[in-house]
Amino acid sequence: MTPKSLSRKPVSVLFVCLGNICRSPLAEGIFSSLSEARGLSLRFQVDSAGTGGYHAGEAPDPRALAVARAHGVALNSVARRVKRRDMDHPGIVVAMDRSNLRSLERLGGRRSRVRLVLMRDFDPIGPGADVPDPYYGGPGGFQEVYEILDRSCRGLLDDLAGRNG
Ligand code: 4NP
Repeated sequence: MTPKSLSRKPVSVLFVCLGNICRSPLAEGIFSSLSEARGLSLRFQVDSAGTGGYHAGEAPDPRALAVARAHGVALNSVARRVKRRDMDHPGIVVAMDRSNLRSLERLGGRRSRVRLVLMRDFDPIGPGADVPDPYYGGPGGFQEVYEILDRSCRGLLDDLAGRNG
């Protein structure tokens, strides 16, 4: 690593879904685990939040914890609602579906400084699609969401590592 890359500020990466107990905690855990495996963890400050506040203060859903654990990924998030300030600094905000994306556009307004993207724009299978909400389904839905997020987070990490040298 060069002295320049050591002194660079970490890039903020915020994953956002509706409740912040299923999809975005999984994305946060998977992205953190992948960046650590590639020796890039100091380059990113990773977090997650929800557009709704109903589950604020809660740990991830037990089904999300179980599927993550089965893949050797730890989830450490505590649910919180996304804030206007999250859209006010340079960094990337990654929405799980189009409904989340619209809420974030409204929250940020025109002067938002973040790069706002859709998670599956980085999925080689199905770019532009939504990450399905697994909350009301069975455990099979969580495995499917895990696989979508794993592919998408690899694509996102490639994109961010390429942009920032
Ligand atoms: P998430 O899933 O947005 O992936 O965290 C949900 C969690 C809770 C609810 C909906 C979706 N809910 O309606 O309480």
